Amino acid sequence: MGRLDGRVALITAAGRGHGEAMARRFAKEGAAVAICDIIPVAVLEETVGEQIRAEGAQVLCFRADVSKEDEVEQLVQQTIDRFGAIDILANVVGIAGPTKDVWDTSLAEWQETLAVNLDSVFLGCKYVLPEMIRKQYGRIINFSSGTGKQPLSHRAPYATSKMAVIGFTRTLAADVGRYNITVNAICPGGHEERSLELAKGRAEYVGEEFDEEAFRVGFRATRENAVIAGRWCADEGYTQKGAGPDDAATIALFLASEEAGNFTGQDINSGGGVMW
Ligand SMILES: NC(=O)c1ccc[n+]([C@@H]2O[C@H](COP(=O)([O-])OP(=O)(O)OC[C@H]3O[C@@H](n4cnc5c(N)ncnc54)[C@H](O)[C@@H]3O)[C@@H](O)[C@H]2O)c1
Repeated sequence: MGRLDGRVALITAAGRGHGEAMARRFAKEGAAVAICDIIPVAVLEETVGEQIRAEGAQVLCFRADVSKEDEVEQLVQQTIDRFGAIDILANVVGIAGPTKDVWDTSLAEWQETLAVNLDSVFLGCKYVLPEMIRKQYGRIINFSSGTGKQPLSHRAPYATSKMAVIGFTRTLAADVGRYNITVNAICPGGHEERSLELAKGRAEYVGEEFDEEAFRVGFRATRENAVIAGRWCADEGYTQKGAGPDDAATIALFLASEEAGNFTGQDINSGGGVMW
């Protein structure tokens, strides 16, 4: 018997990374999963969709840009039409946004980061909540980040969007607790490939040489070495091993389950010992 038997989960940005890991884990635990991504739906079907179906779970694949109101509204409606309910909503989508000082950042870059990382969370909740309230049951899981809780230089738009997700999560948790709906945030961090990408961007922006091999050695080893990667990466290394989507999926599975009914308004780090 699975921990999510009989439940329906809608998961955004499930084409790869954290969204994919959660979709697979939730399906394995018995949930019917509706997944979406901005990539072509045929690609999503042939990759994550096929793999979930091959394991015997029910899956629906959609193409949706979840920063767009009409696309989110349709996504939610089509999921309810096909699966009859939405019990679990995972707002996973997130883009890195620019690595620049504020004075070099365009309004368009700022707005795009907030639209994808924050508007999507608002829209997902706005359109799913009437169904959850009708059913008097719901589990909402939003994706924030360690970034913002701890400043990450030159990354104001991303940090702002992710701290706003925490404020939104706490407020919504207070608003919907009476309907037996929980709202929590997961804050990933310490992912080697994502950190590498960001560190490269930062080095390019500040005009420093970037040594990928040294970064990897530093990232995996001591905090002293990891200074190469920037202090923010070093500080994520407490367990001395990179954290990733499976760590977040483990937390998400608990938050999505029946037994997590008394956990709400929390922001939980999945980054290998991040403590802020
Ligand atoms: N990976 C990390 O180390 C890390 C760290 C902190 C926080 N996070 C957060 O965790 C979440 C997942 O991150 P990830 O690294 O697994 O992501 P990822 O970059 O691996 O995957 C993101 C997916 O989102 C899709 N996407 C992008 N824009 C979209 C849109 N407008 N609508 C629908 N889909 C869209 C992409 O096609 C892609 O499949 C994000 O919110 C991210 O900010 C990740």
